[in-house]
Amino acid sequence: MDGNGRWAKTRNLPRIEGHRQGTKSVEAVIRAAREIGVEYLTLYAFSVENWQRPTLEVRGLMALLMETLKRYAKELADNQIALRAIGRLADLPEKVRAQINITEAKTAANAKMTLLLALSYGGRVELIEGVRALARRVRAGELAPADIDEAAVSGALYTVGAPDPDLLIRTSGEMRLSNFLPWQTIYTEWYVTPTLWPDFRREDFFAAVSEYNRRERRFGGV
Ligand code: FPP
Repeated sequence: MDGNGRWAKTRNLPRIEGHRQGTKSVEAVIRAAREIGVEYLTLYAFSVENWQRPTLEVRGLMALLMETLKRYAKELADNQIALRAIGRLADLPEKVRAQINITEAKTAANAKMTLLLALSYGGRVELIEGVRALARRVRAGELAPADIDEAAVSGALYTVGAPDPDLLIRTSGEMRLSNFLPWQTIYTEWYVTPTLWPDFRREDFFAAVSEYNRRERRFGGV
């Protein structure tokens, strides 16, 4: 969800105001996705690299996250949306973790859509943790090295049980993956838009989906 900082800068506002405006886009995109029957939506809200940002911005983002989770817990519940946080969640402040646990528990049985929220997420760290878990199973004699296949690796990642993404939307014109779901996105269709995240709303989301629907996916075949 890129471009919050630039959105704020062009208006001479603090960066956090860009993030705050960005939560309105989060709300609009979740609603739009739910409306058209998207079953899995993943939002990259905070990366492992984002901890390097100034303390004030990190604190502001954590506070915004708490506030947003509290505010929308009921709407998620009412709309049959299950929240699931993915990432190195132990890095998050205790209060944020507690709020995530509450919202996850409240929405766990919801079956229409799963909202994966990537927090302190890093694709490489996810793979490292997954490989370590598989290695422990091998050492315990539960798994033979030859049985480590694609399904076994997928099953050892934070995203276990979720399908690989069909479409990846990147705002603000960035042309890189930035450590986002590297294992899961090998055949994902990319949609890059110059629109900054705080300006990316319902119609922009539908435009991305329409573009996706015009693509022909061959998965390496002909
Ligand atoms: C990247 O833009 C954005 C982030 C690091 C934070 C995204 C978080 C939100 C939109 C709010 C989170 C809330 C919920 C509930 C998901 P940037 O700061 O890198 O912008 P720039 O590239 O213009 O500097």
